[in-house]
Amino acid sequence: MKSAVRQSEIGELVRSGLSRKAKALPPWLFYDTAGTELFERITQLDAYYLTRKERQILLQHSGAIVDVCVPGTQWQVFELGAGSARKTAHLLRAALERQRIVEYHPLDISLDAMLNAVEYLAQELPEVKVCPEVTDYTQSQPRPLASDAGGCKALLWMGSSLGNYEQAEAVAVLRRASAHFRTGDILLLGVDLHPSEGSKQKQDLIVAYDDPEGVTAAFNRNLLLRLNRELGADFRPDQFAHRADWNEASGRMEMHLVSRIFQQVHVAELEQTFVFQAGESIHTESSYKLTVQQVQELLQQAGFPFVSVWMDPQRWFGVFLGRRSSPAAADLSSTQR
Ligand code: AVI
Repeated sequence: MKSAVRQSEIGELVRSGLSRKAKALPPWLFYDTAGTELFERITQLDAYYLTRKERQILLQHSGAIVDVCVPGTQWQVFELGAGSARKTAHLLRAALERQRIVEYHPLDISLDAMLNAVEYLAQELPEVKVCPEVTDYTQSQPRPLASDAGGCKALLWMGSSLGNYEQAEAVAVLRRASAHFRTGDILLLGVDLHPSEGSKQKQDLIVAYDDPEGVTAAFNRNLLLRLNRELGADFRPDQFAHRADWNEASGRMEMHLVSRIFQQVHVAELEQTFVFQAGESIHTESSYKLTVQQVQELLQQAGFPFVSVWMDPQRWFGVFLGRRSSPAAADLSSTQR
């Protein structure tokens, strides 16, 4: 397994992100060791319904999902941002029950998450061949397979992770990651749905991103601690408030770190000082909530026309399945959100 992000890249991102008029940092910076642990805790919170809903859908429908694959003995599953791989285990189990040979390729930027996934699967599903890769999957393609004996390939992007990207970026990630996929292979997306699709209220969203236990606030502030640790910055995290907003016009949740006071922060590694006005924010994350139609369009653009969707009864979350059409049939035009 290899390490994924160079320190100098982080430095340049921080320099450009904090030099802008509207300060912003990319959300993948959350996921150092401490951030990965905090995210794992978020997924266990009552308030963070996304993981619970997705797990229920997979628990109930994994058999049906696996059955959509072309009948065959071999199933190769590639998962972007696999994390701890707990939910995916339901799918892998369903595939094994159907007597398939299952090869699982989890991809994640976090080495800790990968080690955790490998250990868990070795205990729970030792029959699955696990081939982990620590990588920034937004930039790279999964390694070509040593043996590609046919069967069905599946690309998974679960947990509504695509919501952290603009639509055109999400499509580019999917196209790159599926470059070696063939007609009939599948794409599975776990998507947090737009409130207009079901009974979800704005307050449900706010609580999910600003939980009463303060775990999400700690997750957000850990970004500053990471910059202190890795770039020699002198952020005082308690001088930044965690804020979660629903942006109705853009259909997304936003997380911000808002400076409580006028302050200056020095980043030793960059030999640069950044000024924050009282009330000025760093936009740390966008989490788009999509309509069914938007997901269907996205599948089409990624080259996997829509086949099926499974949702929870309240229609808060959906697991969408698309199947690779012949390259000529795919709508390969790119669109902006
Ligand atoms: C990883 N990603 C889909 C999460 C989300 O909901 O956007 C990250 C997260 N941010 C706050 N809580 C969880």
